[in-house]
Amino acid sequence: MRKKFIAANWKMHGSQQSSIAWLQEISKEARASIELAVFPPYVYLPLCQSFSLSYGAQNCAAYPEGAYTGEVSATMLKALGCRYVIIGHSERRRFFMETNAVLLEKCKQAVLADLVPILCVGETLEARELNQTLSVVKEQLAVVAALKDNCSQFSEILIAYEPVWAIGTGKAAMPSDAEVVHAFIRSELVRIQTALAQQTRILYGGSVSPENAAAFFKMHNVDGVLVGGASLRAKDFLAIADAACNS
Ligand code: PGA
Repeated sequence: MRKKFIAANWKMHGSQQSSIAWLQEISKEARASIELAVFPPYVYLPLCQSFSLSYGAQNCAAYPEGAYTGEVSATMLKALGCRYVIIGHSERRRFFMETNAVLLEKCKQAVLADLVPILCVGETLEARELNQTLSVVKEQLAVVAALKDNCSQFSEILIAYEPVWAIGTGKAAMPSDAEVVHAFIRSELVRIQTALAQQTRILYGGSVSPENAAAFFKMHNVDGVLVGGASLRAKDFLAIADAACNS
């Protein structure tokens, strides 16, 4: 049984004060049947240490350490108590030109530091209209196969399917359309390793809200959600968590 994973990706939002208020609100009630995780900007990660929910970073360096001004290593994140790290969010691919080769190095660094990578995949609107969704996702999943072949410590990953056109637009994918891609992702993981495919949690991301979350949790291969905008409001994030608990 894969425990549902409900992640809050704050992106570059929040202040020290708003972060503490959010963490206090979310930790008030325990929800043991699901896993809640928060991904704040680096500087707010230490605040998470006092609260009982999983947390991680939105990115990490592709190198273990060295003269890389402005970068933060996976080992440093682990030392702060992170359990996860998001790798290859579409905003990283688009604004910071992150390629599969770079993402593989980042995943490797995460695994070597004992962090669990959450690899984001998803097609642009143009690719969807050209009917290339599955081929784009397949190409992005090549990172997982390479990780398995190149990193003997690799044992756990999460995949977040986030269609680029659904992120921050208020236009979520139809849950049934997302399920087609999630099932495809699982079938690709089977080709890499059957046990991995069974245990891997595949999250949906892109305009998830308290209104639409329950419909995603009805899908067989949706094991959680990665929430951006709606996660900034603790009340909305908790409503999404409750939809997962009730599914
Ligand atoms: P959104 O972002 O929920 O604001 O669409 C999701 C994400 O980018 O992870």
